[in-house]
Amino acid sequence: MDGTAFGPDFLWGASTAAFQIEGAAAEDGRTPSIWDRFSHTPGKVLNGDTGDVACDHYHRYPEDVALLADLGVGAYRFSVSWSRVLPQGTGAPNAAGLDFYDRLVDAVLAAGVEPWLCLHHWDLPASLYDRGGWGNREAADWFAGLAAVVARRLGDRVRHWFTFNEPNVMVWLGHVNGNHAPGLRDRQAALSAIHTINLAHGRAVGAIRANATDPMVGLIASLQPVQPAADDAAHRQAAQALDLFWNRAMVDPVMLGRYPSDLADMLGDRVRDGDLATIGQPIDAFGLNHYCRLYAVPDPGAPFGVGIGGAPDGTPVTGVGWQIDGTGLTEQLLRLKAEYPPVPIYITENGAAFPDLPDANGYVDDQDRVAFLTEYLGAAQRARDAGVDLRGYFVWSLMDNFEWELGYGTRFGIVRVDYDTLVRTPKASYQHLKEVIAALRGG
Ligand code: FCB
Repeated sequence: MDGTAFGPDFLWGASTAAFQIEGAAAEDGRTPSIWDRFSHTPGKVLNGDTGDVACDHYHRYPEDVALLADLGVGAYRFSVSWSRVLPQGTGAPNAAGLDFYDRLVDAVLAAGVEPWLCLHHWDLPASLYDRGGWGNREAADWFAGLAAVVARRLGDRVRHWFTFNEPNVMVWLGHVNGNHAPGLRDRQAALSAIHTINLAHGRAVGAIRANATDPMVGLIASLQPVQPAADDAAHRQAAQALDLFWNRAMVDPVMLGRYPSDLADMLGDRVRDGDLATIGQPIDAFGLNHYCRLYAVPDPGAPFGVGIGGAPDGTPVTGVGWQIDGTGLTEQLLRLKAEYPPVPIYITENGAAFPDLPDANGYVDDQDRVAFLTEYLGAAQRARDAGVDLRGYFVWSLMDNFEWELGYGTRFGIVRVDYDTLVRTPKASYQHLKEVIAALRGG
């Protein structure tokens, strides 16, 4: 492994998300999220998979925490299910829901691992979608309400907070191409969501700081260098548009306090006096999720005239067709350094899906994933060598889970989950990462 230079202070972590692992969808007062609704709509998710049971982490979390401890990570990044904490989205908290996260946080801490809490990983309560969702400006206050409730309960023990996971992806896949919940393909809805979510981020930063003890607060975005899929004017224009919406629409206002001017024109009077000051208040950390480069194609029928094409022919790809090219990660990290004020950066997601054929004991010898991780860690180290303030790396994901519209057939875990028995079996990549972490820590 190229990377002993990461040194003993580098933070190693593993990431998950509530909807993808918890299950217990209708238990202890939880109400449906837009992902429950979407996945129960025929034709939306491969094989009709839903989050009803998922990895049953809600009941099996002690086992998962033990896996984290054995892996040797310093941090565990997870998210809370909004509709478990606030079944109506706003109003009275659900004691049983908060108790679950309380137990989880205590277990994680007892294992010697720091809990890194992300407030929202895509599972908006369905009741709030019915009140207009991110199209309703009030959603910024609904979200700040969630932040306050969770920070009041856990803010004495959780020191590391993120507001949103990949708000840019939430907008693009949920409101522009419609592959994700709530399944919209609507230009105006997307523009409204961009600004409301940004405002919600800003309000939540304030609510976390007001209610938690000395918190680190940040935002997580999925950023990916965008290239034209072909070398002509239409593709170059598509690449510019995709870069604007994917990489800048929800990062520029947070990091620079302003929208790119062409987007500001489109947002119009959605942006009110004072909004950008709220959105642009300094954050303590930036979470970068990165998987692959994006290739833009013109798509005249799409809300912004652009779509995402496949990886160039003949280039290596993962099991879901995402291009394997660590140079994209180095480039993205350097871009963050070049274009935004300095803020500590953590890679909060990186990983890969592969076919993962288990042997008779459920063991997966995923050397393809080991090679992927090796390449991307080397790429991260190259960015550090070039002066990027990169402080940590969280693998996606601790375990196989519900991969959104692809369901359970797509496996990103370093631990295999057998969905019939719910048995967890560490893969070769888990063992590999464990050795890397131990070696780099001098353990
Ligand atoms: C990211 C998501 C995460 C997972 C990975 C593969 O965009 O944040 O939940 O689906 O992709």
